[in-house]
Amino acid sequence: MDRLVKVGIAGFGTVGTGVVSCLLDNGDIIASRTGIRPVVHRIADIDSARDGKLKISRETFVNDAMSIIDECDVIVELIGGTSFAKNLILEALKKGKPVVTANKALLAEHGKELFAAAEKSKADIYYEASVAGGIPIIKALREGFVGNKIERIYGILNGTCNFILSKMEKDRSDFDCVLDSAQRLGYAESDPSLDIDGTDTVHKAAILASLAYGEWFGIEPVYKEGIRGISFEDIRFAAEFGYKIKLLAIIKQQDDDVQIRVHPALIPEDSMLANVSDVYNAVQIKGHPVGETLFYGRGAGRDATASAVVADIVDVCLNLKFGSHRRVPAFKIGKQFRHIIPMNEVNSRYYLRIRVSDMPGVIASISSIIGSKNISISSIKQAEKEGEDSVSLTILTHLANERLLMESICEIEKLNCVKSKVILFRVEDI
Ligand code: HSE
Repeated sequence: MDRLVKVGIAGFGTVGTGVVSCLLDNGDIIASRTGIRPVVHRIADIDSARDGKLKISRETFVNDAMSIIDECDVIVELIGGTSFAKNLILEALKKGKPVVTANKALLAEHGKELFAAAEKSKADIYYEASVAGGIPIIKALREGFVGNKIERIYGILNGTCNFILSKMEKDRSDFDCVLDSAQRLGYAESDPSLDIDGTDTVHKAAILASLAYGEWFGIEPVYKEGIRGISFEDIRFAAEFGYKIKLLAIIKQQDDDVQIRVHPALIPEDSMLANVSDVYNAVQIKGHPVGETLFYGRGAGRDATASAVVADIVDVCLNLKFGSHRRVPAFKIGKQFRHIIPMNEVNSRYYLRIRVSDMPGVIASISSIIGSKNISISSIKQAEKEGEDSVSLTILTHLANERLLMESICEIEKLNCVKSKVILFRVEDI
C-alpha cells in the first residue's frame, strides 16, 4: 500500500502548474519506485482559476497560503519574492513541516536564517530547483560527490544571458538589439536586470559554493559583473583568438579560501561549455577523485523546474516515511572557516581591447606599462585600419594578478594615444 503524503503548494503560477501536472501524470511511477504517493492536498493562490485543464477539485484551492501549513505534510513554496515567502517558510519550519522551494533569491539573501530555522526544528528544507532548473546539480553535489574534494565549478547558470550571447554571436548583433528581440519573444523579462546584470547567477553561485565547501558564504562578497558591456566586436575578436564569451559562475578552492565570482569570461571555443548555447545551462565540476564532470540541461521553464521540485517533494516524503532528517547535510551553518578571496587578489588571464591612434610607438608604450607590472603578454593583434583615426588593439595576457592588471589599465588610459576606456574580460582556460 502506497503511503499518501499531503502536499501543500503555495503559488500556482507557471512552476506550480508544472509541479501539479507532473504529480498527476507521474504519480504512479513515483509510487511504484518509492512506495510514496505525494497528493496535492491544498493549493494556495490568489487566482484559483489558473490552468483549468488540470484535474483539481475546487476545494483544493485556498487563498490563504499560511492556512495550508497545518493541513499538509509538506509545504512547497513557489510564490517567489523575499518577504511573504520567507515568513511562510519560517512558519512551516517552526511547525516542523518540511519545505521545498525554488526561491534562489530568498535562499541567497536569507539562507543563514532559513537554514538555522530548519536545523532548529529538525525539518528539511530542499531547493533543487533553485539552481540550474532541471539539472539535478544540488543532489549531485550533496550526495553524488560527498566523497570528493571539489576543486572547482564552472557554471552557465542563466538561460537569458546564454540566449542573448548565443544570439549576438549567431546574428552578428550587438547587445541592445538582441535584448530587444529577446524581450519581444518572451525570452527575457521586461525588466531583465536581475538576469543580465548577473544577480541571478550570483544567487546560484552562492548556493553551489555552500554545497561544495560545506559553509554558507552568502552573496555579499561575491564579485558580480553582467553582460551589458559585451559588444559583438568583442565576440568577434575573442573568436579570432579561439575563444567564446560566456557569463560564468566560477567557484574555486584557493589554498584555504575560495573564489566565488560571476562575470563574462573568454573560454576556449572547443571546450564543452563554449558549446552550451541558447537557453541551456551547464555545470562543470572538477573533484577529487572523480575528475571532470559535466551536467547539461534546461535551467528554467515550467517542466524542467517542476522536475526538480517533484524530486525534492519525493525526497522529503521519503524522509518522513523513514523518520530521517538531513541524511546528507548540505553544509554547516555557523562559524565560517573559509573566506571569499577579494577580486584584487585573484590571478587570471585577461583580454584587453584598447582603442588607440594608429601611429608609431603605441604598442611599445602600452606593452611597456604592462611589462612594468610584471605581466606577460601572450598575444597581441591590431585590426586593419578601418578608415578611421583609431583602431582596436586586442591583447591577451598570461596569468596575472588582478590588482596589478587594474593598475596597468589606469596608466594605459592616461596615454594620449588611447582614445577610450579599456575593455577588459577575464580568460578562463577551461
Ligand atoms: N531567469 C533565469 C534564467 C531562470 O534566465 O535562467 C530562473 O533562475
